[in-house]
Amino acid sequence: MKIPFSPPYITDGIINEVVDTLRSGWITTGPKTKLLEEGICEFTGAKRCHCVNSATSGLLLALKWYGIGVGDEVIIPAYTYSATALAVIHCGAKPVMVDINEEDFNISVNAIEKAITSNTKAIIPVDIGGLPCDYDQIFELVSKVEIKKSFTPSNEKQNKLGRILVVSDAAHSFGALYTNNKIGSLPDFSIFSFHAVKNLTTGEGGAICMNFFDFDNDEVHQELSLMSLNGQTKSALSKSEGGGWKYDIVLPGYKANMPDICASIGLAQLRIYESILLKREFVFDLYIKLLSQYDWAILPNRTYENKKSSCHLFQLRIRNITESQRDLIIKEISDNNVGVNVHFIPLPILTLFQSDYNIIDFPYTYEKYKNEISLPIYPQLSENEIVHVVEVLANAYKAIVDEKKLQIS
Ligand SMILES: Cc1ncc(COP(=O)(O)O)c(C=O)c1O
Repeated sequence: MKIPFSPPYITDGIINEVVDTLRSGWITTGPKTKLLEEGICEFTGAKRCHCVNSATSGLLLALKWYGIGVGDEVIIPAYTYSATALAVIHCGAKPVMVDINEEDFNISVNAIEKAITSNTKAIIPVDIGGLPCDYDQIFELVSKVEIKKSFTPSNEKQNKLGRILVVSDAAHSFGALYTNNKIGSLPDFSIFSFHAVKNLTTGEGGAICMNFFDFDNDEVHQELSLMSLNGQTKSALSKSEGGGWKYDIVLPGYKANMPDICASIGLAQLRIYESILLKREFVFDLYIKLLSQYDWAILPNRTYENKKSSCHLFQLRIRNITESQRDLIIKEISDNNVGVNVHFIPLPILTLFQSDYNIIDFPYTYEKYKNEISLPIYPQLSENEIVHVVEVLANAYKAIVDEKKLQIS
């Protein structure tokens, strides 16, 4: 039996929607992308949504929109994918990495508080694996009188908001709940990824959801649309409509728009997304049931009092093993044709960041990373396959840990 780590979920409905786009005569950003944006607003409760070509672009655009640049600091967790940090670097600003919580994989609010300086312009909490961060505490923090006082605005938008911007890296958390609100409906920005392995996919893609009280969300949407289309005042679609060829370039934008071909995949997936979520929950719960017999298994939680995960990842941890034992267990599992992964290699360990950060300063990040194994989780997995994954894992543990112990004694 071969079990891949994360194949895309493609149904006939999805194929038909893409074929419909291909036959329609319009394949780049147009009606399907607009429908997807509306659908995401309806599903999440976001005030406005702007689709882009990746979450990486979405993060960059959100920071750029706030005028973040050289000399500014943006607080991010050390435990995330590199895109979170690269968006900050591409603005010319400095990513300030902090540690995560002891009890989950998400950014520690205490650590954020300690890292805030008068140069802090934004925080990027990351909903690792689909579990929302502690947003109430984060908003309480950025709204504190003394923290607002130390905030040093350097443009009109920063002056108007008067506080640190919160850009949620919601790459994993489409469909997750925080205090009964869907992720995407919270202030300020939430950035989803629709990359091929994500819960909802467009092949490559992402979305920026915005929920401002201090700005007109329609205007923010309009500005982001300009920024993701080279600063061009007209979309390709409106230019193509009779006599509409004339346009202007009003700012130095990027090319980050989502084409309709991609949007149509997401649109068809969105129609069945509730059932996709339920199937993911089923896989998650069955892993919990099957693994709870092993005292070496440290199991993740998918619900807390005020949070519900989108079950993007099943982040298992193995008690009392070293990083190299974890790597050997993964090799053993992979040799048995089961795809597993590690989420994530902490940023301070990666070459790009090594000169500025030291993993020793992020003990919870390293503690979580060294024994983490992400198991396959997706709607197509059958009960038999889930049982097989656990059997292969348990055998790998036996071979690498139990039998080695016996050899030593
Ligand atoms: C936490 C996190 N943030 C951002 C991204 C970037 O997403 P994209 O590939 O859509 O740019 C990813 C992608 O895996 C991610 O895991």
